[in-house]
Amino acid sequence: MCGIVGAVSERDVQGILLEGLRRLEYRGYDSAGMAVINGKPEVQRAREVGKVAALADAISANPLAGHLGIAHTRWATHGEPSQVNAHPHMSGDRLAIVHNGIIENYQELREELKAEGFEFTSQTDTEVVAHLIGKNYKAGGNLYNAVKTAIGRLRGAFALAVVHANEPDHLVVCREGSPLVVGVGIGENFIASDQLALLPVTDRFMFLEEGDIADIRKDKIEIHDREGQAVERSISRFEHGADSADKGEYRHYMLKEIYEQPKVIKATMEGRITATRVLEQALGTDAENLLENVRHVQIIACGTSYHAGMVARYWIEDLAGVPCSVEVASEFRYRKHVIQPDTLFLCISQSGETADTLAALRQAKKAGFRAALAICNVPGSSLVRESDLVIMTQAGPEIGVASTKAFTTQLTALLIFTLALARHNGLNAEREADIVKAIHLLPGQVNDVLALDGEIEEMSKAFMDKNHSLFLGRGSQYPVAMEGALKLKEISYIHAEAYPAGELKHGPLALVDSEMPVVTVAPNNDLVEKLKSNLEEVRARGGELFVFADKAADVKPEEGLHVMQIPSVHEITAPIVYTVPLQLLSYHVAVLKGTDVDQPRNLAKSVTVE
Ligand code: F6R
Repeated sequence: MCGIVGAVSERDVQGILLEGLRRLEYRGYDSAGMAVINGKPEVQRAREVGKVAALADAISANPLAGHLGIAHTRWATHGEPSQVNAHPHMSGDRLAIVHNGIIENYQELREELKAEGFEFTSQTDTEVVAHLIGKNYKAGGNLYNAVKTAIGRLRGAFALAVVHANEPDHLVVCREGSPLVVGVGIGENFIASDQLALLPVTDRFMFLEEGDIADIRKDKIEIHDREGQAVERSISRFEHGADSADKGEYRHYMLKEIYEQPKVIKATMEGRITATRVLEQALGTDAENLLENVRHVQIIACGTSYHAGMVARYWIEDLAGVPCSVEVASEFRYRKHVIQPDTLFLCISQSGETADTLAALRQAKKAGFRAALAICNVPGSSLVRESDLVIMTQAGPEIGVASTKAFTTQLTALLIFTLALARHNGLNAEREADIVKAIHLLPGQVNDVLALDGEIEEMSKAFMDKNHSLFLGRGSQYPVAMEGALKLKEISYIHAEAYPAGELKHGPLALVDSEMPVVTVAPNNDLVEKLKSNLEEVRARGGELFVFADKAADVKPEEGLHVMQIPSVHEITAPIVYTVPLQLLSYHVAVLKGTDVDQPRNLAKSVTVE
């Protein structure tokens, strides 16, 4: 993930760009750079390895004052973090570009441009785009047309911002698969990867749509869609109330975070998938090499993150055919293990600071695992710094102690990772496209489940006076049941246990009576008929069932059997969607019981001690 920011103004833009970069640093921080046009015939550029602070120091020593500029904070995909690979990249000394995303066909374009005499100074895919635009510009045209022609040749996901010293009054930007927002000012306009970058200068934003290309001047914004039609994009005001440090309209952080899931799941997929494919390079510079040689995956995590790992095991073995083991970190670190050759060590953690997970990672590095991959939500955390490969979830700050949006974004990232691994292990393009399309549907489907909130609140009343409950699921829904049970116990203090539904008759059925509500997740899959038999076993013992079921699963409500219909979803993405009603159920039970929802007793958000 990289961050880009740009500005055209009557005032000096250097400070605006630097502040924007600071706010985008969560997106990448291995190097940063800025290019400004200030009346000189050439673009003025500064680039530094490391955090934005290093760039700020360089600029304070050699200021880059000007009225038009672009800037970038990088998370390396092509080429190591270094000054030459840092953005902005240039073609000649007058054209500069910043880029977020991956250009899949950059090798082939690079060869073509080299043959035409273009010289490359970096290993990045971005420099290829710079030269492609530079070539079009030289062929006679203007910057807008040069960019438009160039993007017709690019495959992948990208957001670009481009300036040319010959055209010092505008920047040209475009978006295809990576986020880009236009900040609307008075006598000045801005662009950025994320509106948070521009909050000091404006609260009015236009969100570009896929395929849009825009010409941004200080007093005019012109946008054309993929077909070349002039289009208007509506301006929305930033909801300060929905800012991450603020509960806004919500009664609790937990509820706010549950409701943020459509947005953050989308942010987690953005830039990592096209309409039909996973962009492997978006998982890291060395991802392709690494995944090619993985023969076994060892997942380590704690709590909710462990449940994400449990779901991932079903995906990894099903789609990639690669053996996968999952273990809680506190167990793993204190036992001897047999390491299979070419094992990828995968740590999952929201905070990236969980002591047991970090200890397991440190042990693993000594023990000879092939490489360590982290799925994490906090940039700059210890886990991120110490892993070889990192996939950042884009959940944003999670403040409620009970993890919600971190879990569903972990699952989104894990599914994308699984598809990349599976591609090296025989997954065909058709199946990949089928699942990628299902991933794209997730934000809408989660929204549909959120619309059931009122009904779920009603359902929650049945749990208020209960002391125990059972959660059942089969297959990849078993870990979803585990996560549902964890949510209920940690915030409502009701004892909740999860079982694979097929285990019921091997013991827990003895507990079932009218005082033991049984919650079940039942998407329509191969196991649904078996699951229905398990439900009958519960009903026959007088147990009260609360079933979240796909319509096609045909679970009919009856006395003692409450059914809530969940919209139909793809079997693979179902664990993500079915988690949400269980989060809402726990939340409402806790509110009814009057517990401290955001800070439940005895718990803390980041478990940095053993
Ligand atoms: C449960 C919860 C915890 C965490 C666990 C691991 O709602 O939040 O179980 O999942 O403490 O934390 P991270 O993911 O930060 O390593």
